[in-house]
Amino acid sequence: MSNQSQIHRQYIDGEWRSSDGGESFVSENPATGEMLGRFQEGTATDVNRAVSAATRAFPDWRGLSYIDRAEYLWGIFEELRDRHRELGEIVTMECGKEISEGKADVTEAWHMVEWAAGNARHPHGEVVPSEIAGKDSYMRRKPRGVVGCITPWNFPVAIPFWHMAVTLVEGNTVVWKPAEQTPWCGQALAELFDAVGVPNGVFNLVQGFGETGAALVDHDDVDTVLFTGSAEVGHQIAGKVGSEPGKLAACEMGGKNAVVITEHADLDIAIHSAVMSSFKTTGQRCVSSERLIVHADIYDAFRDAFADVARDIALGDPLDDRTFMGPMVDADQVEKFSEYNELAKAEGADVLVDRSQLDDAEIPDGHEAGYWVGPFVYELDPDADARVLREEVFGPHVALLEYEGDIDRAIEIHNDTEYGLAGSIISEDYRQINRYRDYAEVGLGYANLPCIGAEVQLPFGGVKKSGNGYPSAREVIEAVTERTAWTLNNGSEIQMAQGLSADIKTGE
Ligand code: NAI
Ligand code: MG
Repeated sequence: MSNQSQIHRQYIDGEWRSSDGGESFVSENPATGEMLGRFQEGTATDVNRAVSAATRAFPDWRGLSYIDRAEYLWGIFEELRDRHRELGEIVTMECGKEISEGKADVTEAWHMVEWAAGNARHPHGEVVPSEIAGKDSYMRRKPRGVVGCITPWNFPVAIPFWHMAVTLVEGNTVVWKPAEQTPWCGQALAELFDAVGVPNGVFNLVQGFGETGAALVDHDDVDTVLFTGSAEVGHQIAGKVGSEPGKLAACEMGGKNAVVITEHADLDIAIHSAVMSSFKTTGQRCVSSERLIVHADIYDAFRDAFADVARDIALGDPLDDRTFMGPMVDADQVEKFSEYNELAKAEGADVLVDRSQLDDAEIPDGHEAGYWVGPFVYELDPDADARVLREEVFGPHVALLEYEGDIDRAIEIHNDTEYGLAGSIISEDYRQINRYRDYAEVGLGYANLPCIGAEVQLPFGGVKKSGNGYPSAREVIEAVTERTAWTLNNGSEIQMAQGLSADIKTGE
């Protein structure tokens, strides 16, 4: 970073403010172990200050027109585009995903900003007919107020804008807590908001860990929480917030996603889709696939080809565009991956590829202190009572599950998890595809494609344990606004619907 000795502060009420706490933490490059910067850890007092600033800023901000609010976001859109390479490299350096993914993260962010700012000029609400000819009814929206945004490290620029872009255009103010693994991205985005001159208090940044996030969730003046991250934390937040009247939490969590490869699959498309689904972002996407459900007729051919790619996949410096897989994000994630690999063996897996401990020669020079792992691929009986088939690992940990019978059998295996985020079917038979489309329990479904790669104009979200499907483009509007059903009488008499009498009867 520009100044290694500097300790970066919170961004509150349009100013860089020192935390009252005195604790700080570092951001580390997971490919090298190098320190990227030091950041103050926000306390409950900092969260308080940020929420107060956001509360004070709310009346004036909601008083602007949609179009005027969107103007600020267009400023951010320009900055994101102009600084594409630089910001993409920051993403790659801080979270370890290879550079095309780092840059795509920034592109996805400006797409989201473009969607939200463009939507400011589109109709909001609806004109609804009334039973009474003289009444005009409308469905209108109001902002909810201060929105707390809590985001994960794996899309450290894109996900914050999924949360904040629509939220701000709709007239809310924001307090954002980025992931502790990617505070530099948080800092860079706060600098963007500062540079475009968003009014003081409309956007606030508080850095820190789960405790800081929890202070934001617990704050009485934060009625709306947008959360993307683990199921564990998301369900905890949803439970807490759900018990408080008037509060709402929109949570987007993980998955135990799968690719179904039927006997009618094109083998090349199957392998290509499976490799992308399982190994992009080193398996650390919420939509990454950890299960490949493959028909017996094609199983051996698929297994051999997939295992060959897994043995050979290019690991390396994520800033080098020849790299396919960068490191994992941190030591905790490596440990979790190793534990699940061991568990797979204990649960009866036949291991095909185990690159969980890499040879020194496989680790790029100068990157010895990084969090390097390779693919772990195994075969297991789809009916095994195995935790590794149901719990999210968040790494290149992939089960090959062979099935016999028809598409319904594949769908049964596919749905045998509490999660329901993303999935894909590879088949040349449209009946199989449509059956999967209608019965696979997912929020995001694909055919003859990887199960990754959502675009911002599509709804994004899961079913079952994976989420309540809000933090995305159009859907997030529901979470950050309140609807008003508004009716105006044009007549000179009061007339009621449903034949209800409007006569006032008195004793006379
Ligand atoms: P996490 O859910 O702990 O963290 C996500 C965000 O929530 C971070 O900003 C974190 O500081 C914050 N947070 C943590 N505890 C909190 C609390 N009690 N109250 C409020 N905010 C809190 O995810 P983490 O630790 O990064 O990863 C753990 C696992 O979560 C991964 O192994 C993976 O399975 C899953 N995950 C899924 C993601 C997805 O894209 N769906 C993204 C990141 C993690
Ligand atoms: Mg955590």
